[in-house]
Amino acid sequence: MDDEKKLIILVDDNLANLQAGTNVLEEKYAVATAPSAAKLFNLLENNNPDLILLDIEMPEMNGFETIKALKAKPETRNIPVIFLTGKTESDNELGGLSLGAIDYITKPFQPPLLLKRIEVHLLMEEQRKTLEAQRGTLEKQAVELKNFNNNLQKMVEEKTKNVLDLQDVLLKTMAEMVEYRDDITGGHIERTQRWVKILLDQLEKSEFYQTEKNDWDVELLLQSCQLHDVGKISIGDNILKKPGKLDVDEFEEMKKHTAVGEEIIGRIEELTKESDFLKYAKIFAASHHEKWDGTGYHKGLKGNDIPLFGRIMAIADVYDALISVRPYKEAFSHEEAVKIILEERGKQFDPVLVDLFLEVSKEFNL
Ligand SMILES: [Fe+2]
Repeated sequence: MDDEKKLIILVDDNLANLQAGTNVLEEKYAVATAPSAAKLFNLLENNNPDLILLDIEMPEMNGFETIKALKAKPETRNIPVIFLTGKTESDNELGGLSLGAIDYITKPFQPPLLLKRIEVHLLMEEQRKTLEAQRGTLEKQAVELKNFNNNLQKMVEEKTKNVLDLQDVLLKTMAEMVEYRDDITGGHIERTQRWVKILLDQLEKSEFYQTEKNDWDVELLLQSCQLHDVGKISIGDNILKKPGKLDVDEFEEMKKHTAVGEEIIGRIEELTKESDFLKYAKIFAASHHEKWDGTGYHKGLKGNDIPLFGRIMAIADVYDALISVRPYKEAFSHEEAVKIILEERGKQFDPVLVDLFLEVSKEFNL
């Protein structure tokens, strides 16, 4: 049946050639003929041939001009063109191929050779179309996969953000609960967080404690330092809200807040997979009252045995206590507080950290 056959358009101004070509081709293919380029373009308005056999030497529009016009239009660009040439000069052949023809056949042609070459080209064209379709499918799948990945990434980012937001809110609530019971003037947690940040930033810029700085996460440290006094939750109001200085026994009771804080965070740590945040929080809670000379509490650690973050919080905590009003004392000025911390260099505080504190102490007073 003709409609199952592939369509070939034969273009030649020589009617005898058209007839000869048709005779050879029509057994295997549907054949349409055009005696000029103009007729070819007429035919192309309603037909989409599988191949065009195009004569080069034609009056008016020759084969080269015709193929240029075919290649210039998107709807005819991909139709394979084979030139029919009466000449044998290689210039012609090369010229035709460079314009986009897939082959050339010299006239007068030998029917079996013509049929074979057409068959090969049609087969190649079919394979090209299959590959193109497969490439199209692959490209589409790649785009779909990329979109899927992007969406997944967005979902993960959103979920992670939600978890971090929740963590932040819970943390602030815990810290505020302690502050509400303990702090008369308020703002201790926020201020110490600010002092810790200034000290961490200065330490980061310095040459000191490189090993400790290798894998620290400043953002997480600043979040977790808010829990340094969480153990005060266990201390009675009679001590926390006492409008005067604590006596020896009361102070001993108060000192328990570092061990209790360490224990509370340790228990949360056992119940969750969270690691760094709670690890830092536990260090802040447990070691912020240790002293460089070993006279602090609750473990009585000395020097570099005291975790670095505890030593940092010790300076921030004491500075804040000094500049704040207490029921039993007035607030010290910034300058007095700096002087007292300097006096404790190498006694209560890590000397390296006191030096760094002195470099940035002006920022504490902004
Ligand atoms: Fe404390």
